[in-house]
Amino acid sequence: MTATDFQRTPNGAVLMDGNRLRDTRVGMLAGRLLQAGSPSICLATVLVGDDAPSRVYVSMKHRKAVEAGLVSRGLELPSEATQDEVESAVRSLARDPQVHGILVQLPLPGHLDTERILALIPAEKDVDGLTERSLGRLVRGLPGHAPCTPLGVMRLIEHYHVATQGARAVVVGRSTLVGLPQVLLLGRKGIDATVTLAHSRTSNLAEVCRSADILIAAVGQAGLITAECVKPGATVIDVGVSRSEHGLVGDVDFDAVEPVAGAITPMPGGTGPMTIACLLENTVAAAVMQGVDVPLV
Ligand code: GUN
Repeated sequence: MTATDFQRTPNGAVLMDGNRLRDTRVGMLAGRLLQAGSPSICLATVLVGDDAPSRVYVSMKHRKAVEAGLVSRGLELPSEATQDEVESAVRSLARDPQVHGILVQLPLPGHLDTERILALIPAEKDVDGLTERSLGRLVRGLPGHAPCTPLGVMRLIEHYHVATQGARAVVVGRSTLVGLPQVLLLGRKGIDATVTLAHSRTSNLAEVCRSADILIAAVGQAGLITAECVKPGATVIDVGVSRSEHGLVGDVDFDAVEPVAGAITPMPGGTGPMTIACLLENTVAAAVMQGVDVPLV
């Protein structure tokens, strides 16, 4: 697909369609696994409690895993599950040679110690890329799994031919799930963006954002990014999710920003679907690390 084929917003910005790219990548993964003789590769998820959006996210991950030709195993525990019960569930998945990737859906109920639970996931099965060892490998440039949401952002940037070399990128939000690894991925050799990490205490946030050729919002504050935060022609990527009376909304005021931006993600349908595509790709990479033969086609 050439840049001229990309779908555009009413005012001419490229619409960075995550649903479409996810489906393309899941289809490619399915073809690759079929060619490899359909090896049994298993993604296991752990869902604790009955948070409705988490339930929706996990069921979507399973649906897409099956579409890609993966085996998908869902473990559910009640919201009052004890630390010991959750730890023993994760330990048994960690030991199970049939399981190649483990994802513990976050946030966990408040009485649980998330760090202690994540620490039980072996780095090669940490397809979410969230454990200390995975993040340490990312910092040190060693082989491992990068967190799926910032990885999905990189896939969108690549697919939509967004120039990164020498570009100025601003990441708003410093979470370990998105903001911090996003900074590392954008600054990697070969990508070569010059990255600023902004957050809730950044002074003159709008001015800092306006310096960006690539602006990534990952705060979880509805409508934080307005037109005055955007340099004309910039790429604007919305990772934020917050709950409002209108349902789930992003950090970017899409209608106000779209006339200024050169490219923009919709919400929903932008970065969320790409998180899932990258989770499945990480799971196949995890299986390869664990000795399953899946040639790159
Ligand atoms: N909750 C929201 N996004 C994510 C994610 O990417 N991984 C996990 N484990 N939990 C999440």
